[in-house]
Amino acid sequence: MIKIKTIYSCSKCGAQTPKWEGRCPECGGWGTLEKEAFSDLDKKEKQNQLQDLKVDFIDLEKVKKSDTQRLKTGCSSFNIAINGGIVRASLVLIGGNPGIGKSTLISQVVSDQFKILYVSGEETASSVKSRMDRLGVKIKDLKFLAENNLEKILSGAMKVKPDLLIVDSIQTVYTVEIDSDAGGVSQVRACTVKLMEIARKLDMAVLIVSHVNKAGDLAGPKALEHLVDCVINLEGDRLNRYRMLRVIKNRYGSTDNSEVLEMTSKGFKKVLNPSNIYLSNSNIDKGTVITSIMDGSQVLMLELQALVNKTNFGYPKRTTSGFDQKRLELLLAVLSKKAGLKLGAYDVYINLTGGFQVKDRSLDLSVCLAIMSAYHDKQVKENTIVFGEVGLTGEIRSIPKTKERIKEAIALGFKNIIIPKFDKKVDVKGVNLIEVEKIKDLEKYLG
Ligand code: TYD
Ligand code: MG
Repeated sequence: MIKIKTIYSCSKCGAQTPKWEGRCPECGGWGTLEKEAFSDLDKKEKQNQLQDLKVDFIDLEKVKKSDTQRLKTGCSSFNIAINGGIVRASLVLIGGNPGIGKSTLISQVVSDQFKILYVSGEETASSVKSRMDRLGVKIKDLKFLAENNLEKILSGAMKVKPDLLIVDSIQTVYTVEIDSDAGGVSQVRACTVKLMEIARKLDMAVLIVSHVNKAGDLAGPKALEHLVDCVINLEGDRLNRYRMLRVIKNRYGSTDNSEVLEMTSKGFKKVLNPSNIYLSNSNIDKGTVITSIMDGSQVLMLELQALVNKTNFGYPKRTTSGFDQKRLELLLAVLSKKAGLKLGAYDVYINLTGGFQVKDRSLDLSVCLAIMSAYHDKQVKENTIVFGEVGLTGEIRSIPKTKERIKEAIALGFKNIIIPKFDKKVDVKGVNLIEVEKIKDLEKYLG
């Protein structure tokens, strides 16, 4: 006998609970739990079934070695990011905020070298065609399908047998097997699983587009990330023309090949020397510092700004954009205890330019220096760059790839480089390499 079981899944973190609650017990998100129904076989039935099942073993020893076949797409930056091209029979997920350029990117991925089925639940054939014409995309064997129904999409794929199936976007697709609206957690997950199955079965690559939600997570649960072979995020500020093509997960290669792209009237173009594109040419003001983040093997210099304001009433506010709020609270506690800043009566705002969401701990020191600069109303010395991790006792801890960051900073003409203690040799002629050990030592570097 098949019983239908109901569980509730969080759309933010993927946690599951047997009963509905207003707040997710795992991540604390409000109103994120969504109903999911799935069938559960009776235990006895399950046992019987297990005994009947046939299994086909494969002798791994006898499996022929073959190079994983990769489809070289029409977008060279995309190929570089995923180590040479999309692997056949794999599923790649492209995530990003609305309007960031996901549809543009997948249009550029189109190539006349292989057979493609392009499914869109959002756009019409003529709008897709006119975009491709504008981007100068070469089309040869491309079938277009304006469809939301997964069963129809799958049967379309069976008929066309393309090398690459593109689905824009997974939030608009629904399967009749699940009784909820398109875009919900269970729909998104079930559709992805089915697309994965058909990718393996037809030996075709599948590329699906997914919107990210307000918190920056891939819409649908985190579980989507576990399901697929490769996750690529298109990040950046919509108002700014630069985007980062960042590989979050890759089953068939490294995640070190992030690419910085520029949105032009002809679509995305690769940026050749991206390290300083996010720096403004204006003078650095109080509360602003320059720091670096590492993305794969790429060093990017960013501006980090802090605003410290007397709290008007009640609880002091801590707001961040691009930086982890919990980390900020921890750093504020360290600054209060170890550097004597009385922040209890001040609102603190942090902003990282460029529209990035950075979890990198190497930003700690720059956050602290920016807050100190805003709090003391003193500017950081000119031509200074700062990076390092801060520990709970106010000690400055070393970070990965310090040498690469220093080299890039010197190449860009920075004169003062504030870093954790560093004993490897770098050629630092004409540059002031300042090694700090304790958070309170930072104050000296305010002008
Ligand atoms: P789009 O790819 O539709 O974003 P998404 O699919 O992620 O929602 O494109 C978003 C923006 O990009 C749109 O506002 C216009 C701009 N754009 C260009 O600047 N140049 C171009 O060549 C194209 C196609 C779009
Ligand atoms: Mg789109």
